This record gives sequence, structure tokens and C-alpha cells, in this order.
Amino acid sequence: MAARSISVFKTLKPAPADPILSLTTSFLNDPAPHSHKINLGVGAYRTDAGKPWVLPSVQEAERRIIEDSSLNHEYIPILGTPKFVQLVQGFLFDNSAHGNTSKLLSQGRIVTGQGISGTGSLRVLGEFVLNGTSTKKISIPNPSWANHEAIFHNAGLEVVKYSYYDRETQGLHLGKLLEDLRALSPGDAVLLNVCCHNPTGIDPTAEEWEQILAIVEERQLLPLFDMAYQGFSTGLVEDLSVLDKVSQMVDNGKIGNMLLAQSFAKNMGLYGERVGSFSVVTASDSESRTVASQLKRTVRAMYSSPPCYGSKIVEKILEDDALRGQWSEEVSIMRDRLKNMRQLLYDRLVALGCHGPGKDTTGWGHLISQQGMFCFTGLTAEQVGRLQQASVYMTANGRMSVAGITPANVGRLAEEIASVMV
Ligand code: LMR
Repeated sequence: MAARSISVFKTLKPAPADPILSLTTSFLNDPAPHSHKINLGVGAYRTDAGKPWVLPSVQEAERRIIEDSSLNHEYIPILGTPKFVQLVQGFLFDNSAHGNTSKLLSQGRIVTGQGISGTGSLRVLGEFVLNGTSTKKISIPNPSWANHEAIFHNAGLEVVKYSYYDRETQGLHLGKLLEDLRALSPGDAVLLNVCCHNPTGIDPTAEEWEQILAIVEERQLLPLFDMAYQGFSTGLVEDLSVLDKVSQMVDNGKIGNMLLAQSFAKNMGLYGERVGSFSVVTASDSESRTVASQLKRTVRAMYSSPPCYGSKIVEKILEDDALRGQWSEEVSIMRDRLKNMRQLLYDRLVALGCHGPGKDTTGWGHLISQQGMFCFTGLTAEQVGRLQQASVYMTANGRMSVAGITPANVGRLAEEIASVMV
């Protein structure tokens, strides 16, 4: 008998593979010997031996969790436990180096909730902004992290782009960036990276930030900060300086609000635990109560309440000054290794006499001036494709995760890059 039913998926088209995460699959499926393959795709820290690193501070936190007989697996509140919120707020906003954020915090003007790492936090803020404010549009950098556009589009916001990278100079295209921000309307949101811009590794200097923030004020834009790499530029506290500048603008009444999505994936190495936070700076403590209630409503309908293993690790580390200090040292180790690998690759390329796409004498100056986990090499998609044939994996836009470079593979990496430059 002929089947009468028709699959509702009959006309469904396959979705394109994720440009970042699918590289890991291609890398694993590559039949070349493991020691020959180089994975510079996903932004996940690796040691000099090319292995993931469970931070000793995290191991200690986990040991304390197991020993803590008062812990259980009950649901936690919609915005996370009061302990997590208090500790994370203190960590992000209350430190002597940054007086302006502390001031807003003590005035009850910062609402924070635990998010599902950076991605989930961005999504919550996107939906909250769309439903709770007159903001309907967000401008993101060009280029931006490959997932930003989809996150905000799926949250219902119109996504436009502002200029960021200048292929000619391998640097920031400040003139065009300012022009594009100036063309936005009051109330439009603008996505800004606190530090270690993904994918370019290019961060504005202090003077450039002044100019960017002047337009944010002039156009009355809503700054939404993404902070996935706190600690990978200069230090956990030092990297917060732009947030302090913007907090001062809020405090002085120059702009109304500020939003922040933050992640512990990279700086605590808690990738798969999906732990981070979202924060909203409001005009008053009563406004904060309203905002908190709306954030709860957004989260409850999306995923009800956040998971609580990663957040317990964060609590254990942040609540103990000694463990927090140890963690900060471990972040320096990761930061230093990334900087060393940049330098090593630069040195190898220069020693090979291979000229890069940049304008400086070696053409590779951007490898060492960029910040954080990523290096925007300036290689073309065609060159990246040829590298992949040699089992060297990076995203098609020429982004390299510096964490995948090791003392053992840097020599071959430089040779393979040199071979595609001719
Ligand atoms: C990356 O950009 O590689 C990371 O943020 C991981 C991811 O989810 O894309």
C-alpha cells in the first residue's frame, strides 16, 4: 500500500557546516599521522605539548566541590546562585583599579546573571534588548566572531556591520569604523570586544578607544561588550579598563546604559562547562529590579535556569583569595605562552626569508602586535585551502588559533606557510 504520509522535512535543505567547529571534525578525520597534523582552528588553549590544560586551580576547586557535603544537584535560581552573582560582580566590577564600575555596583545599578558561557549570555542579552527596549538593531564588527551574526539574528535583532579590519595595513580601519558608527541611529546597539578581538586579534589603542567612545556618546548608541578573552591581553584586571571608561560615561550621564556578556571558557579553561555571565548597567536600583525581572522572564522561557557544575568551580576559585591568586598566575602562563608562540612563528618565517602580507619590513609584524588567542594572518582562502592539504587547519578567513602552535610544530608550520606564499 502506498504511504500517505509526507515527511515535514521533505523540503529541508542541509545547513552549512559551522566554519569553526567543523574544522575540528576535518582535523580528526584527516588520515595523516597525528604528529604531522596542526590544528589552528577552534580557539581553545593547548599546552606546549599540544594538550588541553585543566588548570591546577580548577582541579583544586573540583576537589573542594567533591568534599563539600552540603552541595547537591537542585535547580539553582534563574539568574544563578546569589553567591555566584555576588562573586562574579565583585570580580568584574569591584576592584581598586577600576573605581567607576565599583561606584555603579555600590549604587545597585548593575544587574548580573549567570549565563551559558559567552554565547548563551549574548543570546539572553539580544532577546532582552529586543523585547525590553526600543533597540531593534545591532552593529557588529566586520569581521566578527563567526557566530555573532547568527546569535543576534536568531534573537530577532537586525544585524548590520561596521568596518574594523584593514587588509592593506593588517590593522584597525579606524576612519571607516568611526564613519560607520556615526551612521547608526540613537538607541542602536553596537557590539564591542573588550580585548583580544575575535577573529583579528586587533584591539583599539587607548586613544582609539577614546574616539570610538566619543561616537558612542555622540550617537547615543547602546554598547554591548563581549568579553571572552579577559586576561589574555595584559591581565585579568588590566583588561577591564575599557569597561571602566564606559562605566564612567554612564555615571556622568553621557550615555544611558551598558551591557556585558562574559565567559569563563578560556580564562578558566571551562569550555564544555558553559559558564559565564551577562550584566546590564541601569539608571537606578529600582530600574535594576525591573531589568532583573525581565531577564528572569527571558531566561525562564529559553532554558529555565543555568547549569551548576561550572558555576560551582567559579565560586570556589573566586571566594578564596589564595586560589584566585593562583588562577591569575595560571592565566599569565597561558598568556605568556601565546605571546611566545607568536614570536617563535614570526622568527621562523623571517628566518626563512618569507615575506608576509603586511606593510612592515618583514610583512609579518601583525603576528606579534595582535593580542590574545587569535592571529589574523592575512592569508587568503586559497592559501588556507592549500595549507589544509598539508594537514594545517585554520579558518578560511586566515584566522589562526595561536594556541595550536607548539615548539615542536612551529618549524613545519612556518615552512608550510612559506610554501603557500609563493
Ligand atoms: C572560537 O572562536 O574559536 C571560539 O570562540 C570557539 C567557538 O565557539 O567558536
